[in-house]
Amino acid sequence: MNILITGGAGFIGSHVVRLLVNKYPHYNIVNLDKLTYAGNLANLADVENAPNYTFVRADICDYDTILAILQQYHIDGIIHLAAESHVDRSIRDPFAFARTNVMGTLSMLQAARTYWESLPERYEGKRFYHISTDEVYGALEFDGTFFTEDTRYNPHSPYSASKASSDHFVRAYHDTYGMPTIVTNCSNNYGAYQFPEKLIPLFINNIRNRRPLPVYGKGENVRDWLFVEDHARAIDTIFHSGRVAETYNIGGFNEWRNIDLIKLLIATVDRLLGNPEGHSIDLITYVTDRPGHDLRYAIDSTKLKNELGWQPSLQFEEGLERTVAWYLNNQEWLDNVTSGEYMQYYDQMYNNSNTSNPQ
Ligand code: NAD
Ligand code: DAU
Repeated sequence: MNILITGGAGFIGSHVVRLLVNKYPHYNIVNLDKLTYAGNLANLADVENAPNYTFVRADICDYDTILAILQQYHIDGIIHLAAESHVDRSIRDPFAFARTNVMGTLSMLQAARTYWESLPERYEGKRFYHISTDEVYGALEFDGTFFTEDTRYNPHSPYSASKASSDHFVRAYHDTYGMPTIVTNCSNNYGAYQFPEKLIPLFINNIRNRRPLPVYGKGENVRDWLFVEDHARAIDTIFHSGRVAETYNIGGFNEWRNIDLIKLLIATVDRLLGNPEGHSIDLITYVTDRPGHDLRYAIDSTKLKNELGWQPSLQFEEGLERTVAWYLNNQEWLDNVTSGEYMQYYDQMYNNSNTSNPQ
């Protein structure tokens, strides 16, 4: 199989690329990424020379280039993760989210349609797998309910509105053109290689630098946390065995109030840094709430468990400790991404050429 993964230089994408490159030496894995601030080839240093791996720098909004890449690499399957992914950025610059998440997804769909419909076998053996978020469902109250695959879409932020729109386009391509599509909606991921604008890596970085920890509102919002490698395993399972035209929710049944998670995080970082207990608690700083801040997310992933046997592998405390240890052992990575140093060679390296294994 020839598989195109979009957004493979980002947080979740890099874990998916690594898993598939190592697990399926007989597949060709093409990683297509624009290398925005969130894309970092250092995330894939351990697989960049693998014979079944190719990196292509491209923008998913560039239909002609995407079509040419699908043709050049004879792509059978697409796992589409490329997106603008940070809610706070979407509040500041919603157009960027409409462009990449909506128009970019549409451009991927249309290029896949053009290429696959040009082949004698058309959609036979093909798959367009779109990675989405639980945020499209809106927010839950503190009432013990969960998002299921049948929950009505009700997005509140420009980010979640753009992801909801892209999900609708993906389903429309199945219903209108018969494209074999799958959509999954996942809860908050945590783990190595997450850009330190998101809660967990931002706070780890701030604790190690003795900077304030900005808690939005009262810190009472609830998120459902999943270890990123468990998400990557779910993506592998669903890509290979999920039913076409279906939606699967992915989550860890692991709800945490932000303030409780932050206190656990502080205790874990302090312990691993050898600080006395409670050393960094004074860094907690309550700040103005995020506009439209969704109160609670909680995913019911029973369908995925019953149909495909997937379930999370880690307890949260263990996953969080592994995550904190990774960031503390990879402070150079953190320093590079916070200074922007990792980006400075990309334009030079990929100038006028969108295909390369950077060596
Ligand atoms: P990320 O921001 O870490 O990575 C996004 C990647 O997409 C980057 O490598 C970036 O360079 C690339 N990209 C952005 N715009 C592009 C464009 N126009 N063309 C090509 N590449 C482009 O994101 P992430 O957290 O890894 O999320 C990946 C996907 O998973 C997104 O679709 C997101 O909506 C979804 N998701 C994320 C989470 C989470 O907790 N992080 C949870 C559920 C779903
Ligand atoms: O639910 C899945 C979503 O999870 C993904 O679709 C998004 O791509 C991903 O970014 C994430 O969205 P959140 O907005 O939930 O993640 P974030 O890490 O930005 O925030 C987590 C919670 O912590 C949220 O309630 C806001 C709060 N927060 C966040 C930051 C960055 C703070 O209190 N302070 C902060 O500085």
